[in-house]
Amino acid sequence: MSEKKRLFSGIQPTGNLHLGNYLGAVRNWISLQDDYEAVFCIVDLHAITVAQDPCVLRQSILDVARVYLAAGIDPDRSTIFVQSDVGAHAELCWVLNTVARMGDMEKMTQFKDKSDKEGSERSSVGLFDYPVLMAADILLYDTEVVPVGDDQRQHVELTRTLARRFNKQFGETFVVPRADIRSDGMRIMGLDDPTKKMSKSAASEYNYISLTDTSDIVRKKIMKAVTDSEPSISYDQNRPGVKNLIDIYSLLDGKSADEIVRQYDGKGFGDFKKGLAHVVVDFLLPLQDRMAAISDDDVCTILERGAQRAGAIASEKYSHVKKRMGLGNDNNLNK
Ligand code: TYM
Repeated sequence: MSEKKRLFSGIQPTGNLHLGNYLGAVRNWISLQDDYEAVFCIVDLHAITVAQDPCVLRQSILDVARVYLAAGIDPDRSTIFVQSDVGAHAELCWVLNTVARMGDMEKMTQFKDKSDKEGSERSSVGLFDYPVLMAADILLYDTEVVPVGDDQRQHVELTRTLARRFNKQFGETFVVPRADIRSDGMRIMGLDDPTKKMSKSAASEYNYISLTDTSDIVRKKIMKAVTDSEPSISYDQNRPGVKNLIDIYSLLDGKSADEIVRQYDGKGFGDFKKGLAHVVVDFLLPLQDRMAAISDDDVCTILERGAQRAGAIASEKYSHVKKRMGLGNDNNLNK
């Protein structure tokens, strides 16, 4: 058994991942693999809380795994698996549903945001329950650290509440995890509307840069990105469009915001955006090459192995939960 503390995170296979997913989450996972026993999930049960086409979903699951691998997750050191391949996630979710209170759930802002689109009457119960399934994901693995973007802060907070409440009611069972949210990259904003986060479900494709976008599309999207009417480049909270572009530049290129501002002193947005497009394309091309070199068969083998590893940990934890709660008809549970 590894001495390292455990880390858990996941991404929904809902279409192509974008720069926000990479900069807010995956990028941080790579270095964390050295210090933690890392478990990375493809959360397909979360994806079906909104309508999905089964064939597209199947392909998206493989594509997300390919991004994990191409970005540098090492399947020999870290566990990569698909959520629905480990039954204990849905089982523990049900148990935690009985611990979560309506008052906890009604505070969840992401449900409000997501259900606004269709109206809450038409939203699935699964969408409402999304944060409890996320808590189950995390708590099954005695997770200490959850590296996510800023938009997931409230969900990790709920996970902590449920863990503490369960432990108090049924005895010490769950590790209370903490979110690891980096100040840089925690919220990459939409290119077409820098007041809202970059999102896969945005109405316009000019909102995000997908990790699979071609160089031409990247250039087009960046040239169209919303800035403001001031002609100079400066790094300022009150200039969200420019700030967001400088953040992306800085995270991918390694230069500080100040250095970038100095580099474009006296130059206009045309030059700056061309420079940024260059940096983004330079980052994406090798990533895309690595993705193309990983076959579906290889991905499936890695995911199968991952599900076995994750399943062993999760089923042990879930048995422990059943025992704590007096559930089931297993004589071993009485011993
Ligand atoms: P998802 O797929 O919506 O997002 C995956 C990760 O990407 C981050 N992210 C962003 N970071 C910065 N800027 C953005 N514009 C941006 N958009 C997305 C998210 O914060 C997240 O880290 N509910 C989770 C999936 C999940 C999960 C879990 C995560 C399910 N179970 C257990 C951790 C642990 C989510 O947001 O997926």
